[in-house]
Amino acid sequence: MPCALWTAWVLGIVISLSKEGAPHQASSLSCDPAGVCDGRSRSLSSIPSGLTAAVKSLDLSNNRIAYVGSSDLRKCVNLRALRLGANSIHTVEEDSFSSLGSLEHLDLSYNHLSNLSSSWFKSLSTLKFLNLLGNPYKTLGEAPLFSHLPNLRILKIGNNDTFPEIQAKDFQGLTFLQELEIGASHLQRYAPKSLRSIQNISHLILHMRRPALLPKIFVDLLSSLEYLELRNTDFSTFNFSDVSINEHCTVMKKFTFRKAEITDASFTEIVKLLNYVSGALEVEFDDCTLNGRGDLSTSALDTIKSLGNVETLTVRRLHIPQFFLFYDLRSIYSLTGAVKRITIENSKVFLVPCSLSQHLKSLEYLDLSENLMSEEYLKNSACEHAWPFLHTLILRQNHLKSLEKTGEVLVTLKNLTNLDISKNNFDSMPETCQWPEKMKYLNLSSTRIHSLTHCLPQTLEVLDISNNNLNSFSLSLPQLKELYISRNKLKTLPDASFLPMLSVLRISRNTINTFSKEQLDSFQKLKTLEAGGNNFICSCSRGLCATTSTDCGT
Ligand SMILES: *[C@@H]1O[C@H](CO)[C@@H](O)[C@H](O)[C@H]1NC(C)=O
Ligand SMILES: *[C@@H]1O[C@H](CO)[C@@H](O)[C@H](O)[C@H]1NC(C)=O
Ligand SMILES: *[C@@H]1O[C@H](CO)[C@@H](O)[C@H](O)[C@H]1NC(C)=O
Ligand SMILES: *[C@@H]1O[C@H](CO)[C@@H](O)[C@H](O)[C@H]1NC(C)=O
Ligand SMILES: *[C@@H]1O[C@H](CO)[C@@H](O)[C@H](O)[C@H]1NC(C)=O
Ligand SMILES: *[C@@H]1O[C@H](CO)[C@@H](O)[C@H](O)[C@H]1NC(C)=O
Repeated sequence: MPCALWTAWVLGIVISLSKEGAPHQASSLSCDPAGVCDGRSRSLSSIPSGLTAAVKSLDLSNNRIAYVGSSDLRKCVNLRALRLGANSIHTVEEDSFSSLGSLEHLDLSYNHLSNLSSSWFKSLSTLKFLNLLGNPYKTLGEAPLFSHLPNLRILKIGNNDTFPEIQAKDFQGLTFLQELEIGASHLQRYAPKSLRSIQNISHLILHMRRPALLPKIFVDLLSSLEYLELRNTDFSTFNFSDVSINEHCTVMKKFTFRKAEITDASFTEIVKLLNYVSGALEVEFDDCTLNGRGDLSTSALDTIKSLGNVETLTVRRLHIPQFFLFYDLRSIYSLTGAVKRITIENSKVFLVPCSLSQHLKSLEYLDLSENLMSEEYLKNSACEHAWPFLHTLILRQNHLKSLEKTGEVLVTLKNLTNLDISKNNFDSMPETCQWPEKMKYLNLSSTRIHSLTHCLPQTLEVLDISNNNLNSFSLSLPQLKELYISRNKLKTLPDASFLPMLSVLRISRNTINTFSKEQLDSFQKLKTLEAGGNNFICSCSRGLCATTSTDCGT
């Protein structure tokens, strides 16, 4: 029987089992016995008729529905989720949702609604999620739209083109939101205190092309917002100078700038903004463009004493068009002393100047994954007195070539315990190496290594050497607790006497044919063994093979 026919047949049965009789347009929907109905992308031009109280969840996204009438959903008294996104809805009759007293999730995004009505929501006191993004309304209407929704936790409003105004009463009645997303790319007016009426917002996502109104909005959020995320903002003309702030106790913990355009001058303004936050702060720049040369005016920076309370700084995929004219940011070195964690990923970093490293006096964690670091430049970065408190260094997928030189260069980092140099091409391993004294974790996965030597630090507790070309493992590592050695060419298990402390062994996808119970038992502390993807003769080959399994070996 063709699949579609079969589905319709099952559906017919399911629906005729329900007490209230079968919907007429059953074939346009597929419902499961729990009342979850899927009618996505079926070119529907109206809400299917005959819906009953058996329907708990209704997904009609991506159709051509233009109109929601007052009787369309009247019998769906048990509906919890209604998804009507990406249709052509221009009109929703006033009492269309009046019988949906259990509704928790309502999605009306990407439709043609030009007027919003608070009467739609009158009966929806249990609503937790409401998405009104991408409709062409100009305001949120004349009466407070959400005042009947005390349980709302996630709210998405606005659009890219025609939403110029946030009015004083827009958020009345909302006290606590987990997530508020506002599409306000072309916002022109913001009534002071309108966002202040929400007492607690965990995460605000603002799509805002021009940041002219950002200072006013920011002031209103200082004591209620934990995490501010700005998307697609052009900071070229940003000026934070003339804002007066009296707030002392702020609750902001995190900022994200996503796809922002920043200049040298506006960077200083952003730092000023961060300075108003009183507690420890995490700042993230994702996919941003820096249209500058790092030529930061020292006079402006003089008024700023530090990077605020920034403890964690993350930069991913930073694009610097004038990369080759870039200054070394000397002017901000003195601001960095309190930063504890830095990630700069996939941003063409090839050098952290020695003097900057020395200023990073509190740095504990440095992640420079997917950059251009080589041993020569790393030597300058990890100079004497560089990063005195650094315990974790991640140089995954850079341009390192020699394990010997890498170890030698890092000996200055007395407190380094964790080093990830995976996805560099080392090929071979010298007989001996130097390493920082306290090394515990070393990640050498995907580094094309084909044999192991005494180059590995004896202090290691965790070694990841997976995805290499190893034929054997016969090396004594007295403190090793976790060994990741999947995707190599091992023919036998490592000898337990070399690894007396081992408790985790991941050795899947090698070429081991068999091992005996005695061999396994000799790993006295082993708790986790993963050995799938080998050509076992026994029945262990399908996945996890516990030490207690008697199916293995002998
Ligand atoms: C929206 O409201 C305005 C003014 O209140 C009215 O002129 C217009 O016809 C309404 N549009 C729709 C689609 O109801
Ligand atoms: C605004 O436009 C961007 C890019 O075209 C798109 O990704 C985003 O979903 C749009 N947002 C809204 C609220 O329409
Ligand atoms: C906001 O609510 C969250 C979750 O209930 C809570 O952890 C946080 O302390 C609240 N913040 C403020 C400022 O009241
Ligand atoms: C910001 O405005 C102040 C005066 O309000 C002015 O002195 C300063 O130069 C401006 N900064 C930028 C980056 O435009
Ligand atoms: C390593 O960290 C300790 C504190 O954990 C600190 O006292 C010591 O100075 C650091 N080592 C170096 C070389 O700075
Ligand atoms: C080692 O690094 C790889 C990425 O290169 C990562 O997927 C893996 O989880 C790391 N291993 C451990 C044990 O953390």
